[in-house]
Amino acid sequence: MNILILGSGGREHALAWAILQNPRCDRLIVAPGNGGIGRVADLADLDICDGAAVAAFADEESIDLVVIGPEAPLAAGVADALADAGIACFGPTAAAARLEASKAFTKEICDAVGAPTAAWARFDALDAALAHLARVGAPIVVKADGLAAGKGVTVAEDASTARAALRDVFAGAHGRAEVVLEAVLRGEEASFFCLVDGETVLPIGTAQDHKRVGEGDTGPNTGGMGAYSPAPVMTSAVEARALREIVQPVATEMVRRGTPFRGVLFTGLMIEDDAPSLVEFNARFGDPECQCLTMRLGGQVLDLIVACTEGRLADAQVRWADDHAICVVMAADGYPGRYATGEPIGGLDGFEGDSRRMVFHAGTERRDGGYVSAGGRTLGVAARGDDLRAARDAAYGIVDGIDWPGGFVRRDIGWRALG
Ligand code: AMP
Ligand code: GLY
Repeated sequence: MNILILGSGGREHALAWAILQNPRCDRLIVAPGNGGIGRVADLADLDICDGAAVAAFADEESIDLVVIGPEAPLAAGVADALADAGIACFGPTAAAARLEASKAFTKEICDAVGAPTAAWARFDALDAALAHLARVGAPIVVKADGLAAGKGVTVAEDASTARAALRDVFAGAHGRAEVVLEAVLRGEEASFFCLVDGETVLPIGTAQDHKRVGEGDTGPNTGGMGAYSPAPVMTSAVEARALREIVQPVATEMVRRGTPFRGVLFTGLMIEDDAPSLVEFNARFGDPECQCLTMRLGGQVLDLIVACTEGRLADAQVRWADDHAICVVMAADGYPGRYATGEPIGGLDGFEGDSRRMVFHAGTERRDGGYVSAGGRTLGVAARGDDLRAARDAAYGIVDGIDWPGGFVRRDIGWRALG
């Protein structure tokens, strides 16, 4: 098979790495990719949100399968353009990707099927939202509708924070003046990953990530500073309940509405007393959760993706290794605020990854035979072990061999699970 992956981060490097281990892959192109991905696959300079351009490129290069990594091309309808061109694609249509792109749509779907989620209301005017806030009070969650790259959510413990967040949304900070106000859920968060092909749902793993930049889960939100899989809070009973009460009914409802979901559904849950509630859906793999999942699944990732795109998920099986994986993100000093790029990163060329230890590149460029930093989140150091502690120790051992004075890691990834 000739395969094209769209995206440029650590998630896409991990997908590339897993796919390359499967003998069914003859040729792999990643667009646009990054310096590290360029060492294992061909790179293509392509506007990945332009469906017509992606379809034309796939046709020219005799691509058999396109795997869409990030959310932006999904929301832009790249999967729809590929379907129209008759090219197999892993990733939902724009209509199905609304499960991620629109918070209000997701809430409506939950209400339609009775899936547990926080009580909510939607507003398209500041006055009405402020009036609602005055009625229900804080704590409250303010969510800008539309894709906001994880930055459109404020969990406000007091009313003045909530009012400021609302004013921010309606001043156009997130592009669209629409907001969902919802009750605060308490408990422990976890992510549940399922492949979905219309009605058929196949769980492929659980994970927890660390969104805050600072140790002890403090400081500003980021795209994710580290993750581990499995999530201890996702016991088989909680997983079965999340499937039964949330994922399966939502998949069925999407089919009923004529917009079946096909791809990976990333379900963000809050779990309290073994009862899962939906926090959000994403229509893609998480980054860095994907790095942990691919470490654990290996080359079978491609078989599962192909089964999903061919509508054969009902016959597919996941071979589970009874192990643990962790991914520690190395980021540039200053991230998620301002940071420098173009700094040399040493110690990478001497590192030979294997099926238990990998350095995934998220934001690097090749320069003068070495690597330089080219982003905020720059590397994802991933390792597997028989338990989480062994995986963690292996990952930090690799981190310590990387020479990048301008970078930092959180030293406590996995703390909640390690106790
Ligand atoms: P979202 O983009 O909807 O995932 O929200 C980002 C983060 O905000 C989540 O990962 C949670 O940590 C938090 N969050 C969102 N909604 C709620 C809620 N109803 N209760 C508590 N925390 C929430
Ligand atoms: N790590 C969270 C995300 O990918 O949305």
